[in-house]
Amino acid sequence: MDYESIFKSAIGRLHQEGRYRVFIDIIRTKGSFPNAHCFGGNGPKPVTVWCSNDYLGMGQHPSVVEAMETALHEVGAGSGGTRNISGNTHYHVELEAELASLHGKEGALLFTSGYVSNEAALSTLGKLLPGCVIFSDELNHASMIAGIKNSGCEKRVFRHNDLDHLEQLLSECDADLPKLVAFESVYSMDGDIAPIAAICDLADKYGALTYLDEVHAVGMYGDRGGGISERDGVADRLTIIEGTLGKAFGVMGGYIAASRTIIDCIRSYAPGFIFTTSLSPVLVAGALASVRHLKASSTEREAQQAAAATLKKKFAAAGLPVMPSVTHIVPLLVGCPAKAKRISDVLLAEYGLYVQPINFPTVPRGTERLRFTPGPCHSVEMMDELTDALVEIWARLELELRKAA
Ligand SMILES: Cc1ncc(COP(=O)(O)O)c(C=O)c1O
Repeated sequence: MDYESIFKSAIGRLHQEGRYRVFIDIIRTKGSFPNAHCFGGNGPKPVTVWCSNDYLGMGQHPSVVEAMETALHEVGAGSGGTRNISGNTHYHVELEAELASLHGKEGALLFTSGYVSNEAALSTLGKLLPGCVIFSDELNHASMIAGIKNSGCEKRVFRHNDLDHLEQLLSECDADLPKLVAFESVYSMDGDIAPIAAICDLADKYGALTYLDEVHAVGMYGDRGGGISERDGVADRLTIIEGTLGKAFGVMGGYIAASRTIIDCIRSYAPGFIFTTSLSPVLVAGALASVRHLKASSTEREAQQAAAATLKKKFAAAGLPVMPSVTHIVPLLVGCPAKAKRISDVLLAEYGLYVQPINFPTVPRGTERLRFTPGPCHSVEMMDELTDALVEIWARLELELRKAA
């Protein structure tokens, strides 16, 4: 068997479809984010990062860095075990209490990433509820899809944020079967928001549990950074809220928050939680400092919203096809994978501006885009530089500009 040629032809298919991914090799400089350096070509050159999910710059916040340094020097690098076998440090216990309080739930549980938290929680919930039917938004993240698949449950996919379709599917389901509605608050490729309260109304009407992924909202929405569910005052209506510590909180890890009993079940049954070394206490200490900081300070959230509004206005005024996001995400429609990649390449090589193209399967074919994540650290001058560069490249590639807004 020629294994090598099978693997090579798999890679060849990606090249043919224009979907082969090239990772840009960068290094950030603490204290000057979004400035970074990019390796390759003639050695490291300065770049401005426009696509980081360290949305608020908390990955370099002095209180986060200091907490991590202190933890490193006090307890060393790793946790040394699974949560059950010596890896349940006091840092983990404290962070879980902080996250439970952030979402107004009885308990919380940490995982090594947001991906793992979704996969582990959804697959375990489904297995614990025989006959459960899971209703899943069609744009749910790959980690939720993996968890639902691994639960072995029957899955019904509802059209994105479509309440009528969700109700139709719920009403067609046997009333006696357990049900779970799984969805996200902020959908990070389009920047739209789910009608959480209305979905909870439907869940109540049809006796379903609710599972909300707040990965792109925690830290950034709500008075204390509890996400859209906090902002909308509906956190208590959700059965489970899931989040990440790797995006707005600027560190790494994932979690769920829920009732004491559900947390106890996932803790006791989920292989993705049980059979893996727990997060390093250094990471947990940094995340704890970040969550605590953003619970008390809205400065970063407000600056992020202001930056997103300014960039959207600048793009629209220049006639660039900015998509209708109602959040901090600023997507620019290109509609062609090769051109999206080309724009990104030119921006990086000629202007030192780094934004990753977003192609299929992350977004549907024909909606390929550039996705900008302006935050408190991006200045107005940086936005002007970016807008001017994009207008020049748009003309060079003979892409159409809209009538300036
Ligand atoms: C909606 C959503 N959920 C979960 C995850 C996974 O989170 P993490 O990056 O912490 O693994 C992501 C990552 O991009 C995401 O977009």
